[in-house]
Amino acid sequence: MKSSEIRKKFLNFYNKKNHAVLPSASLLPENDASTLFTSSGMQPLVPYLLGEKHPSGRRLCNSQKCFRAEDIDEIGDSRHTTFFEMLGNWSLGDYFKKEQLNWIFEFLTKELGLDPSRLYTTCFRGNEEIEKDKESVEIWQEIFKKEGIEAKVVDSAEKEGLQKGRIFYYGVEENWWSRSGVPSKMPEGEPGGPDSEIFYDTGNDKHKGNLPCHVNCDCGRFIEIANSVFMEFKKTKDGFEKLEQKNVDFGGGLERITLAVQGLDNVFETDLFVNVIKKIEELSGKNYQDNVKAFEVIADHLKAATFIISEGIEPSNLQQGYMVRRLIRRAMRYARLLGIKESLKSLAPVIIKDYQDSYPNLKIDLSIIEKEEEKFNQTLERGIKEFEKISGDISGVQAFNLYQSYGFPIEITQELAQEKGKKVDLKGYQQEFEKHKKVSQASSQSFRGGLADTSEKTTKLHTAAHLMLAGLRKVLGTHVEQKGSNITAERLRFDFSHSKKLTDQEVEKVENFVNQAIKKSLPVEVQEMSLKDAQKMGAVGSFKYGDKVKVYSIKNASCEICGGPHVENTSVLGEFKIIKQESSSAGVRRVKAILKNE
Ligand code: SER
Repeated sequence: MKSSEIRKKFLNFYNKKNHAVLPSASLLPENDASTLFTSSGMQPLVPYLLGEKHPSGRRLCNSQKCFRAEDIDEIGDSRHTTFFEMLGNWSLGDYFKKEQLNWIFEFLTKELGLDPSRLYTTCFRGNEEIEKDKESVEIWQEIFKKEGIEAKVVDSAEKEGLQKGRIFYYGVEENWWSRSGVPSKMPEGEPGGPDSEIFYDTGNDKHKGNLPCHVNCDCGRFIEIANSVFMEFKKTKDGFEKLEQKNVDFGGGLERITLAVQGLDNVFETDLFVNVIKKIEELSGKNYQDNVKAFEVIADHLKAATFIISEGIEPSNLQQGYMVRRLIRRAMRYARLLGIKESLKSLAPVIIKDYQDSYPNLKIDLSIIEKEEEKFNQTLERGIKEFEKISGDISGVQAFNLYQSYGFPIEITQELAQEKGKKVDLKGYQQEFEKHKKVSQASSQSFRGGLADTSEKTTKLHTAAHLMLAGLRKVLGTHVEQKGSNITAERLRFDFSHSKKLTDQEVEKVENFVNQAIKKSLPVEVQEMSLKDAQKMGAVGSFKYGDKVKVYSIKNASCEICGGPHVENTSVLGEFKIIKQESSSAGVRRVKAILKNE
C-alpha cells in the first residue's frame, strides 16, 4: 500500500465517523510567534482546544505538514526527519478515550492491515499532580482481548525491560504531551495532558547496552507510530486545572505508519523517500546502504527546503530563511562527501512528483536552490581549507570566523570537527555571535541616528531588559517568559508570554521595580556554571550553548542565564520607562521601553 493511499484511507475513515476533513495549514504558523514552523497538527488548533468554537464542528481530521528543526541532529538514524506529515484527528470536547483508542486501533489493524501482535501500547504512570491513566489501560486490555492477545501490564520497562508485557506505563517524559513538553516546562495557560502511544515492532533486534530493551528504547526495534493525547488540563500558576472540555489530540507520523505498513524498519525505504534516494544514487554513483547518513541528510534536507521554499521563504540570514540556508548548505557538505558535483536542485522535481497527489500546488523556482549553492560554493572549499589549518580544538572565535567569512552554519563546523576528533567551543561561538550582533545593531543604529558610543547604550538597555523581565514576573506571575527581544541603542522591544493587556497600575509597578533596582546601585554579577546549577539557583532563561552557562545576577532583583554583555552596576542606567505595549500574537505581549537621563 502506498503512502498516498494510507493518507486517503485515514481521512476517509475519520470522515465516515463524522470528522470534517481540514486542509493542511501552512508550515509557517499564523498568529503564533512562539515557533518559526508548524511542528504538530494541533498547533493551528490551540484556540479550539482551549474552548473556542471551531466553524467545522467538534470532530476534525487532517494531514498536516510539519517541520521540527530540533530533530536535525537525529537525521541518519533511519527514523527521524525534519519534515514530516502528521495524520491527526481531534475531538473538541466530544468523544474521549474509549472511542479514540478503539478507532485508531481499528484503523491501523483493519484498514491498514497491521498485525495486532506487532503493536504495543503505553499509558501515563501518573505523578503527584495527575492521576495514573488506568482508564486507558483497561481500554487497551479489552482491545487486545478481542484480538486474542494476552495483554500484560508492565510498570518498570525502563529498568527491567519488556517482561513479556503488551501495555507499559511510563512517566511524564514519555507519556505526557504539551507544546512545551513535560508539565514543569509548561507556561501558565498552556493545554496538555497524558497520552497513550502505539509502537510497532519492526522485529529488527539490534539492541546493545547494559539496560534491557523496551518499547521506548533508542535501539530502533520499536517505533512510535501513533500518539493519542487526552488534552484535558491547563497549566495554572501553581498546578493544573481541568479545561472546560475534554479533548482528544491524535497525531501519527505518515512516514512511520507507512514504514510499518510496508513492513520496513527505515522511513527512507518507504515510497515517500525511495525516489529521492535513487536520484542521489544516480548523482553520486554511490550506494545508499554504504552511505546512510549522507543520503538521509541530503534527502531529508532537500525535501524540507522544497516545502518551506514553496511557501514563499528564500534562503537568508533571518529566521525561517536561515533554516532554509542551513538545510541547503548542510546537504551540500554531505553531497561533497559523496563526490556529487552537480546541483542538488534536480532532487526537487522528484520530491514534487512524489507529493503531487496530495499537494498539487507544490512547486518552487529551482533557481532559488541553485543560487544558494552558488553562494556557498564560493566559500565552502576555502572554508574547509581554513578549517584544516586549525590545529587542535576549535575556539569560539574560529568557529565564528568560519560562519562570518565562509558562511558555515555552526553544525557544519561541529560535524567537521567531530570527523577529526576535535571539539568546538560552542559557548565561545555564541558569545562571539552575540557580541557581533550587538555591534552591528549598534553601528547600524549609529549610522541612522548619528549617535556616539551606541553600543554602550545597547548594553544598558540589555541590563534594563533583565530587570524588566524580573519585574514582569513579580507583578504578573511566573508564567511570564521571554519570547523574543530586540534591542537597539534607542529602545528595547520585548515579547513575553501573557495573555492580557497590562493595566496602567501594572505598568507602573514594573517600572517602579526596575527604577528601585537602579536607585539602589546594585552590582551586576556574572558567574559561569552548569545549566543544572543555574536552574537550581532559580535562573530564568535558556541560553542553550555548550555545557556551561553564564548567569547574570542582580541581587534581590534578577537572575538570568544570558550570553551578555551587561553593565557593571545598575546605577548607570538612568530612568526606566515603558513607552508602548501591544499584543504580538495570541498569548504574547510586546512592550517597548527606554532609558532616560542616563
Ligand atoms: N500533538 C501530539 C503530537 O504532536 C499528537 O498530535 O504528538
